Amino acid sequence: EPHLKKGTDPGGVRHGTRAAIGAAHLRTDRWWVQPAATAAGLLAFVVYSTWRAFADSDYYEAPYVSPFYSPCLAENCAPMRDGPNWEIFGSWWGLSPALLILVFPLGFRLTCYYYRKAYYRGFWASPPACAVAEPHATYTGETRFPLVLQNLHRYFFYAAVPVAGILTYDTVLTFRDEHYAWGHAGLGTLVFLVNIVLIWAYTFSCHSCRHIVGGKLKHFSKHPVRYRMWRWVGWLNGRHMLLAWASLVSVALADFYVYLIASGAFDDPRLF
Ligand code: FES
Repeated sequence: EPHLKKGTDPGGVRHGTRAAIGAAHLRTDRWWVQPAATAAGLLAFVVYSTWRAFADSDYYEAPYVSPFYSPCLAENCAPMRDGPNWEIFGSWWGLSPALLILVFPLGFRLTCYYYRKAYYRGFWASPPACAVAEPHATYTGETRFPLVLQNLHRYFFYAAVPVAGILTYDTVLTFRDEHYAWGHAGLGTLVFLVNIVLIWAYTFSCHSCRHIVGGKLKHFSKHPVRYRMWRWVGWLNGRHMLLAWASLVSVALADFYVYLIASGAFDDPRLF
């Protein structure tokens, strides 16, 4: 900028081309409540899921397997006598088997458009809220490493779909009793059912899913089926934030429920 001496431009919203407003922001409401609450909620989940993922115990009690540990891909999931249990990692894997599978749902959520907004605001203050200047001097968006990797979101969506399919299978398996006899259900069955509905609703409400279903078309009139699907996905997509939180809570609750019964703290009440 010709009016600024080289090296004196403070950058960011103080850049020479931006309006010269002295105040940090002009908002008078408690704009910090939402990012602070978001950061607290996400932090709580990170702490809980880290504890459970590394715990490597109390994740299976027939007929329930924790969603954090399914499918089980290493030999050290021996306590799990049924369910998706493919030991493709063999015996050399000595860490918690949850770590092998959580990469996919966590990658899906970490690169999710909503969670990006949430943690950029909550943890990085970039920006902290609408019309509140960010404290950083420079802004490169998601154009450079590592944030350019956020573009992988679509591929995490492809990975999240089979994982949700496996959790659906696990939910079907909960219609048995502890002796593997079919036609039964416990309170845990309800917990699993609510969770899987929310997981699918969150997955289908994904922006990448919406693009895959309805994108790259010139004329919806020539693609009535995709148009109808796009309308459904769009309806869910409008509730993406809500579904992101609801499914985050439900998946943690489903895991915690399994923890309670596997650790002996609680007996699964049988419904029928
Ligand atoms: Fe949130 Fe894809 S945009 S899951």
